[in-house]
Order: sequence, then C-alpha cells, then structure tokens
Amino acid sequence: MSSIIEDLIARKIFNNRGEETIEVDVITTSGFGRASAPAGKSRGKAEVLYYPQGGVDQALKKIDDLIAPELTGLNSDFQEEIDNTLHEIDGTTNFNIIGGNTAFAISLANAEAAANSHGLLLFQFLGGSTANTLPYPLGNTISGGKHARGKAPDIQEYLALPNGAETFLEAATANAQIHKKIGNTLRKKDKLFSGGKSSEGAWIANIGDIDAFEVTSKACEEVGNELDFECGFGIDVAASSLWNEKEKKYIYESEGKKRDATEQLEFLLDLIEQYHLTYIEDPFHEENFESFAELTKKAKNCLICGDDLFTTNSERLNHGIALNAANAIIIKVNQIGTLTDASKTIENAQRHGYTTVMSHRSGDTCDWHIAHLAVAFKCPIIKTGVVEGARIAKINELVRIEHFLGNKAKMTDLKTL
Ligand code: PGA
Ligand code: ZN
Repeated sequence: MSSIIEDLIARKIFNNRGEETIEVDVITTSGFGRASAPAGKSRGKAEVLYYPQGGVDQALKKIDDLIAPELTGLNSDFQEEIDNTLHEIDGTTNFNIIGGNTAFAISLANAEAAANSHGLLLFQFLGGSTANTLPYPLGNTISGGKHARGKAPDIQEYLALPNGAETFLEAATANAQIHKKIGNTLRKKDKLFSGGKSSEGAWIANIGDIDAFEVTSKACEEVGNELDFECGFGIDVAASSLWNEKEKKYIYESEGKKRDATEQLEFLLDLIEQYHLTYIEDPFHEENFESFAELTKKAKNCLICGDDLFTTNSERLNHGIALNAANAIIIKVNQIGTLTDASKTIENAQRHGYTTVMSHRSGDTCDWHIAHLAVAFKCPIIKTGVVEGARIAKINELVRIEHFLGNKAKMTDLKTL
C-alpha cells in the first residue's frame, strides 16, 4: 500500500449558513481523503486568517497554482511534512497568503487519505491501538449573544454535559432529550416562541439569561433523574462579544446591566454556586488572562475553558499555563490552520493537566473529522451541538466509532465534576 499524493482537487461548497467554504480531495496511489472547512461567527482575534484576499475563489487558485504542484509526489503518511510545506508555501505566521481554512481542508483531507491508504479509520491511524476512549458531548441547547438575533440571552451558549453517562450513545441520548425538553418549556414560557434555532441548532427564544439558566438547569436535572445519571450544565459566555473596551465593562444588553471585571467575577462565582455549573467557557474577554486565573482559582469543580483566549495557539496557551489562567482549552483546528499545529497544542495542554475540548464552529459542514480527532487525541469532551445536520454528522460518527470499538470502547472519567 502506498500513500504517495497523486492529486489535490479543491472546490467551493457551502456551510450550514449558506456561506461559501472550501472542500479538498487528496488522492494518493491507494487512498482518498476529503475534508471541508468550518467558519466561526464569534471569532478570536488571534485566529489565523481564513482566506486570502479574494475569498474561496482565490484560495482555489492558490491550490492549483502553488500548493498542488508542491504536495504532489509527497507521502501523505508524513503529516508534519505536509503541514510544514503548507507553512513554507504561505510564509506568514497567520496564513495570510493561502488562508487558514485552505490549510485546514488540505491538512485534514491528507490525514484522511493517509488513513484510507492503510485501510484504517482516521482515529485508528492517528491514535493507534490505545484510542478507544469516547468523549462526552457538550451540547448547545439555548443560543444568545452573537449567535442569536432580537431579544435573547446575552450569554452565547447554554450547554448540557451528561458527564455521568456510561456510553457515548447514552450521553447523546441525554442531550437530545434535554434539548427537546427545553424546547417544550420555551413554548410555554415565551408566547412568541416559534421554534427558532441558531446555526448550531440551539433554541433562540425571547427570554433573558436568568430564565435561560432556570430552564436549562431544570431540564438537565430532570433528564438526569429520568436516565439515572448526572447531567451537568455549563455556559459559553463568549465574553469578548460583551466587552466594551472604552467603558471597560461587559455589557449585558438584554438584562440592561454592565459589569466590570470584578463584578463579572462575582456574577460568575454566584452562578457556579447557584446552578452547580460544571463548565464555563470564555468568562472574560480574550486578553484578560488575569481574571481568568482568579476565577480558575476560586471556582470549585468547574472547568474554566479558554476558546478566544487561546485560539488553539500553543504560545497563547503557554502564557495561560504560566498564569494558571484556566484548566480547559477549546480545540478548533481551523483557528490555527493545520492538524500538526493543533495536535501540538493538545499535547501541550494535556501535559499541563488541561482538559481538551474538541470543537465544531457555528458555521460548519457535515464534515465529521473532529469526531475522529477527539478519539485519536483522547479529548475528554467534544463540543458539537445536539441537533442540526452539521452537528448530527459528528455525533453520529462518534456513535459509529463506539459501535465499531464494541466492548473495547469506554468513556473518560468526568464523574468528579
Ligand atoms: P464560533 O464560536 O461562532 O466562532 O464558532 C463558537 C464558540 O464561541 O464556541
Ligand atoms: Zn466559545
């Protein structure tokens, strides 16, 4: 079996928001891989640039003119060499020339082609024989902030984390039931509720944050009781979206409140206690490592996770590690561009005791590769929504992986949360 790259074919496709995105096929002498890139809406400032000037069309041209000739003839087994070649062709630190999403699609399609050339599934190829642990699905149930329109909660995501489930299938079942229960409650609570959902498939309702906390925590508790295991609950504040640099305050528009960093800290500590939150993502804006550290020190049994704070970037993570800024990190491969860069960030995070959370983007396709990456890199959590096509593509792929592993499959231990 040989994994020499014979051809690279790229095309424009669409994500779940109907935005243009890039899809790449990598064809080797005995295999094939295909991947497409996602897109964020509440992006971190330190993310790589998605596309060169001229958008997807220009990226396709770069693949034909610059990238395909360089990669053809290389061995897809050597992921690091492929990814380094992408960096060399680009020559900038943030993929200004070829685009980070171009790099992402090539990098993932290459890994898939290499696995396929060896007759292996991606998680087996990347993770080897010890890759048999399934992640817990962290699922978005109510959307607010930049992910919603009109009157909605200021906090971007209300998330279910069924951390007591014995299997992935049970955990995914719990999330689906929680999502459904919340929909039913919202129908009663908000007379104008028409079943609207965000790009991530979470409900958008005319309610404030306090109502959203009440509704989500009640649904998690009830489903937990019905299924007889713990269903935790968390939020993604996406605080950079709330931060007003001039006023130095977090603006909660729907609530009509403004909070400075100290008030934000108190507010979040109260919420952790009142609702037994097990997970808080981006509690402060993306440059405030110090407040992150204070919350991490004071919060008990709660993951404090950096998304925009770290942007899957090892250097930013090192800064966070030095300050004890968090104890968890979101991994979005397209924030950094290549699989090699992302896997180095994961290793670094895990070496320092951080919980790694593999994640989708709000704009996404039915590409399911992150399901395999979560298993291959032993991420205890995957954040990939509950319903909606692009989310279900990943959830169902994890169900398949669990089924494929049979009695070798196990869950990580998150019961202590
Ligand atoms: P995104 O954000 O819209 O940038 O994908 C999702 C998130 O903040 O986790
Ligand atoms: Zn986030």
